[in-house]
Amino acid sequence: MPLLTYQQARPWAKAIRSALLSGKMPPWQADPHYGKFSNDLSLAPGEKETLVAWVDGGAPEGNPADAPRPRQFTEGWRIAKPDVVFEMPEAFEVPASGVIDYQYIPVKTNFTEDKWVQAVEVRPGDRSVVHHAIIVVDDGTGMQNEEYLAGYAPGMSPQIWEPGQARLIKAGSTLIFQMHYQTNGKASADRTKIGLVFARQPPSRQIVAGQAAAHWIAIPPGEPDYHTAASVTLHQEAYLVGMRAHMHLRGKSFEFRAIYPSGETEILLSIPKYDFNWQPYYYLATPKLLPKGTRIEARAGFDNSPNNPFNPDPGKTIFWGPQTWDEMMIGWFDLAVPLKTAPEPGSKMKPGSSF
Ligand code: HEM
Repeated sequence: MPLLTYQQARPWAKAIRSALLSGKMPPWQADPHYGKFSNDLSLAPGEKETLVAWVDGGAPEGNPADAPRPRQFTEGWRIAKPDVVFEMPEAFEVPASGVIDYQYIPVKTNFTEDKWVQAVEVRPGDRSVVHHAIIVVDDGTGMQNEEYLAGYAPGMSPQIWEPGQARLIKAGSTLIFQMHYQTNGKASADRTKIGLVFARQPPSRQIVAGQAAAHWIAIPPGEPDYHTAASVTLHQEAYLVGMRAHMHLRGKSFEFRAIYPSGETEILLSIPKYDFNWQPYYYLATPKLLPKGTRIEARAGFDNSPNNPFNPDPGKTIFWGPQTWDEMMIGWFDLAVPLKTAPEPGSKMKPGSSF
């Protein structure tokens, strides 16, 4: 469905009108009352009305001379040219049909020194079979310290941090590609890769990935409004950079709250109508300073009733599990933690203590 020219868009006029009026498009589920996000896809006030009026007026072309210049799209990386690219060592053969267990594919970085990373992007080899990819970093200490680094799912944007903020990948780390493949009737092979751009300047804040997850969910059959919550308390001051909600097909609503040491509560992100198909990271337009002792709480609602059109089976109690017909409840968030001491020029940079 290309929409690059008038000729391409015109046949979709009615569908565009209804997608706009139903709120299906543009895909953006955050309640505008809470938080301002730098990657907000929603339309500015008046734009929806302009588009609908265009359709109602017969979707005319107008004068081509007034048209803006066609947009240029770059093929390939959306981050700057990566300094290093790690690819699955060999292609994973995806059969034409059947259910495939998650694949966990270790890829050694062979980093001989700690690296500060400014931007990451995961690119699927064959996007028609990659349901999602999650890349975690095993720091090689044997302590099973695995930290979320980056993910891919349709519609997700790459992670690019502000200058001065960076992720730390320690020397000797291994990247573990968690790959979820879905068959689609045609056999295929996939080699997903991740590109990293290194920080050009020593960072003053370290980006740390956190999560509040409710592994204990048990959603009764037919239950239309099951709620659960999970939280994490910060043991040091940190800036909240972004948030991401993850549930499966019974996911109904999701909220992130900050409960401050003063007892005051603030809603950071509210997704009143969660849509499994759209799970962006919501990046705050301005990072939010959370004092030491703040509790970040994720609250989720699920609909296991037959009224949920995406529900694959309302007749079962649903527990945590990896497949789409199981459930999950994870509130991911990125924190920017001030580094305790600015590193001396040329010295090896040390991260601040994590939360
Ligand atoms: C004013 C903005 C937009 C308009 C008018 C629009 C319009 C549409 C229309 C008419 C459809 C077909 C709907 C149907 O089959 O019922 C559609 C589907 C789709 N759009 Fe958009 N769109 C907009 C923004 C976006 C953006 C920003 C993205 C991606 C970030 C996007 C991604 C998609 C995808 C992946 C589909 C197919 C999947 C689906 O049907 O859910 N759209 N859009």
